[in-house]
Amino acid sequence: MDYATRTKIATILIDDRVPVDSPVTILGWVRTVRTGKEVAFLEVNDGSCMKNVQGVVNQPERFPILDKILTGAAIRMKGKLVASAGKGQKYEVAVDGLDLVGEADATFPLQKKRHSMEFLRDIAHLRPRTNTFGAVNRLRSKLAFAIHKYYQERGFFYIHTPIISASDCEGAGNLFRVTTVDLHHPPMKDGRLDWDADFFGTEAYLTVSGQLEGELLATALGDIYTFGPTFRAENSNTARHAAEFWMIEPEMAWAELEDNMNLAEDFLKFLFRYALDQCKDEMDFFSQWVDPGVRETLEGIVQSKFERLPYSEAIRILERSGEKFEYPVSWGIDMQSEHERYLTERTFKKPVIVYDYPEEIKAFYMRLNDDGKTVRAMDVLVPKVGEIIGGSQREERFDILVDRMKKKGIENVEAYSWYLDIRRYGSVPHAGFGLGFERALMYISGMGNIRDVVPFPRVPRWAKF
Ligand code: 4AD
Ligand code: MG
Repeated sequence: MDYATRTKIATILIDDRVPVDSPVTILGWVRTVRTGKEVAFLEVNDGSCMKNVQGVVNQPERFPILDKILTGAAIRMKGKLVASAGKGQKYEVAVDGLDLVGEADATFPLQKKRHSMEFLRDIAHLRPRTNTFGAVNRLRSKLAFAIHKYYQERGFFYIHTPIISASDCEGAGNLFRVTTVDLHHPPMKDGRLDWDADFFGTEAYLTVSGQLEGELLATALGDIYTFGPTFRAENSNTARHAAEFWMIEPEMAWAELEDNMNLAEDFLKFLFRYALDQCKDEMDFFSQWVDPGVRETLEGIVQSKFERLPYSEAIRILERSGEKFEYPVSWGIDMQSEHERYLTERTFKKPVIVYDYPEEIKAFYMRLNDDGKTVRAMDVLVPKVGEIIGGSQREERFDILVDRMKKKGIENVEAYSWYLDIRRYGSVPHAGFGLGFERALMYISGMGNIRDVVPFPRVPRWAKF
């Protein structure tokens, strides 16, 4: 078969690189077929872009196979590229050869009509063939590339941190265990499970963050970033939490909180701009069908400055708002999604960077401020999605770090001696953050549920496919 000679639809309709009258071979999946006596029309999509190409078949009786070509079928369509008479499309294919490569019968679940997101989640193996999920997956790919482009062009090194880890970076305890222990006959010692007999000779987990190892590399290479999967066994069934998600974690040596905020803002704007420029049709689609006006919203945000707001100030705004929040507001609370949304959607109507959070509600590694009550933490909050970035300047002072670890209930500080060593030897101020890739995709596309910006979501009670 001459599959290699095919022309992708994007080459024709996006890049506009195929001259009229050229012979083309289109390989794709049929979205609709309309057959009349004189002429038949085939709408075909090959996944390379949003757009379908239309095949026009004159004298359809020449191709009896047409009877078997239904929505969802895989076909090969040969013909000549011609200027289209129809509106809304520049070119079409005057078909002179047609093969049915893979049949689809009338049970194909994606017949032309609108389907609910819930229905599509159940058929996540087929949903990439819809407009919405084609767009989401192309956007995801383009932005994954943009992330590398952004950091590589700025001298950051891409490092790979372990996926299996013995430490709990965030100290939140929502870890997935990694073990080869026979759960029906676990090795016991003194009445307790003997982890020494397990594969790693110690308890091990799927990582919740590559940060701790990232810090080790940053204090050697200068500027680094990670981009990989992370895992959290948070039993929260929300539209923004997944058990498996991808995180981008830059870490800079010789940097303080303000440098961190500057990087976060610049990086996010780069991603927004990249999506607007490189995924034009996808962004138009989202803006029309998914989240009306999302394109214009992003255009505006790229031009404006993010609000920067100390936590104490944020609490004052919420207290004075007169709003009836489900979770009452007072200094010291961990902000809930309703609070974050109030700040971004009602008060500022744009992304907000909240910083200097209470020490009590943040992880052990964040740098203590002189007030002894707050740490150099920052969260980037955006309308609708809430927190998309969490980061901080790290505690680089050995004694203060050890104190905070103990205060946070880390019993075995010795187990972190490798982490403490970079404070023992040549310690430098350093800072970094984590961007949740799916949260960023939700914000950019306007998709309302994290289950719909990753091909195969992992959430409580759902690990299918
Ligand atoms: O705020 P988090 O927990 O920060 C860290 O993990 C730091 N170690 C990062 C660093 O400083 N290097 O998580 C960072 C981001 C959140 O802001 C959110 O966007 C995303 O990761 N995130 C999740 N995304 C989807 N599902 C979940 N369950 C998530 N938990 C966090
Ligand atoms: Mg956070």
